[in-house]
Amino acid sequence: MRLILLGPPGAGKGTQAVRIANKYNIPHISTGDILRKNIKDGTELGKKAKEYIDKGLLVPDELVVAIVEDRLKEEDCKSGFLLDGFPRTVNQAEALDKVLNNMNTSLHGVINIKVDKSTLVGRAVGRRICQECGATYHVEFNQSKTEGKCDVCDGELYQRNDDKEETVSKRIEVYLNETAPLTEYYSKKELLENINGQQDINNVFEDIVLALGSEK
Ligand code: AP5
Ligand code: MG
Ligand code: ZN
Repeated sequence: MRLILLGPPGAGKGTQAVRIANKYNIPHISTGDILRKNIKDGTELGKKAKEYIDKGLLVPDELVVAIVEDRLKEEDCKSGFLLDGFPRTVNQAEALDKVLNNMNTSLHGVINIKVDKSTLVGRAVGRRICQECGATYHVEFNQSKTEGKCDVCDGELYQRNDDKEETVSKRIEVYLNETAPLTEYYSKKELLENINGQQDINNVFEDIVLALGSEK
């Protein structure tokens, strides 16, 4: 299965991606996670990306396209992949089409998680992430058993730098201007599956599985 997860910041892409990747046994490729890992490791790419990420802006297309192109060529992507947070501009979508074309392959579907703007800010601002394993929690909607600690590995939970309210608002604005047009791009290709992200995490996942079932 070769899939894209589309949706605004805080829609639940990462939360659902972990489940989808497990169920279909495909690698979960999040450009946001890859960029944050580079920032943590202090790489040149990380230094460049940080300037954009901290402001809620998109990292330049050529940087993220290169990351994804390299990643898709790795062995584990032969069985499929789930892209989370890429593409994010029409330019990136066109670049992805070219990369897949050159690999003689194509997409099965694009899952678009829809959530109202008013819900998004609360989801992002309340998010907490394990600094060891990356598991995602929410202070209200998806609490860890012990406050501040990860259920999976007991690691410390932290708040993402770009999850402050004003940065989240900026990210939503950027999404509406630059990423939202992709729904039309993929709808025209008859790949788009709209999913109601405004329900319980388990129900969102059930809807995604149902939508993918009718894919093929
Ligand atoms: P990225 O890391 O991709 O962030 P994002 O798209 O803004 O999305 P988020 O990770 O914030 O949200 P999510 O949809 O994954 O939600 P989650 O599941 O965590 O990108 C960050 C930055 O990197 C960008 O701003 C940009 O600078 C750069 N970047 C990345 N990719 C790029 C690209 N392709 N091009 C250019 N720049 C790029 O859920 C959110 C919270 O809600 C969690 O706490 C969760 O527990 C909770 N939650 C989830 N589902 C539900 C539910 N159904 N009900 C209640 N709570 C829920
Ligand atoms: Mg995410
Ligand atoms: Zn953990």
